[in-house]
Amino acid sequence: MGWFDSLKKERHQEVETLSQSVEEIAEESNEEAYEDLEEVENAAVVEREVQPKSARDYSEVVSTPIKSYKDKKPVQHVIGQTKIVAIINQKGGVGKSTTAINLSAALGEMGKQVLLVDLDPQGNSSSGLGIDKSAIQNCVYDVLLNDVPIQDVIIPDVCEGLDLVPATINLAGAEVELVAEMARENRLKDAVGSLRGKYDYIMIDCPPSLGLLTVNALVAADKLLIPIQCEFYALEGVTKLLDSMKRVKNRLNPTLDIYGVLLTMYDGRTVLARQVVDEVRNYFGKTVFNTLIPRTVKLSEAPSFGQPITQYDPSGKGAQSYIDLAKEVISRG
Ligand SMILES: Nc1ncnc2c1ncn2[C@@H]1O[C@H](COP(=O)(O)OP(=O)(O)OP(=O)(O)O)[C@@H](O)[C@H]1O
Ligand SMILES: [Mg+2]
Repeated sequence: MGWFDSLKKERHQEVETLSQSVEEIAEESNEEAYEDLEEVENAAVVEREVQPKSARDYSEVVSTPIKSYKDKKPVQHVIGQTKIVAIINQKGGVGKSTTAINLSAALGEMGKQVLLVDLDPQGNSSSGLGIDKSAIQNCVYDVLLNDVPIQDVIIPDVCEGLDLVPATINLAGAEVELVAEMARENRLKDAVGSLRGKYDYIMIDCPPSLGLLTVNALVAADKLLIPIQCEFYALEGVTKLLDSMKRVKNRLNPTLDIYGVLLTMYDGRTVLARQVVDEVRNYFGKTVFNTLIPRTVKLSEAPSFGQPITQYDPSGKGAQSYIDLAKEVISRG
């Protein structure tokens, strides 16, 4: 037998031993599986009482239909001059919705009458306030494109002093559909304008883009609140936003102005965050709110419980920061 034949024989034997052991392993695990099965079959059957879902549980689920504006309780105080504020930054994830929810709720708790308009197809302000979007019949889309009166869409008293115009995914089509409409930039202005005198503040949570929805917000608003995240590219895109603001101011809304710039997700432990604060304060000067919104886990958890931070974690620093911001907003008139 030559060296090649003996090598072949050796390999053949190796392969045979290997397949034998694979078979053995398979057999063993089968045996184990059968043993497990027998154990399960022989186990004493423990009877457990299944608790039927009580009628009360069920009624709680079905008995909370979304209220309408007609059910709204009368407001207890004189409403000041309505201020329409767009919370705006085309950059995504900078804290627009978090600010829209928590600032609006804080103002409501301080006795102001507030309406929050969710103008983002993501509907984060709606779900963050505990609204089940699948249960909504009409949303802000229908106000903009189907001539549904805004009063018919308002969900009253989602929190103390706070009403909501919700958004659903239908709104995603609005950017495209508005293009073909007459007076397409004025749709929101006409709708929220009809509510002047009924609220102290109307807040608009804008989507992260400079499309027609955002232009509608720029035309409808008296003031802009610009959240800026304390991170490396903080000011990226801000010039573009200010550019859009100037164009709308020149042609469609001459009294439009900046209400304030808000620094969000501030982590005082990092040098970077402190540098960003200095940079933004140098750029915008006094328009920057003194209040810094800290980065806290509680603020990111609250929306999944459908609650503003003042309810979810009332004694935490997140709640305190939005209460401080609300005080600053009131003091700015
Ligand atoms: N101060 C904060 N501390 C910790 N997490 C925060 C804070 N503010 C916002 N977040 C979280 O950061 C994410 C983005 O925030 P948010 O949704 O408010 O931003 P946005 O500007 O509305 O985003 P988009 O542009 O997508 O609408 C969310 O997961 C939110 O929970
Ligand atoms: Mg948002």
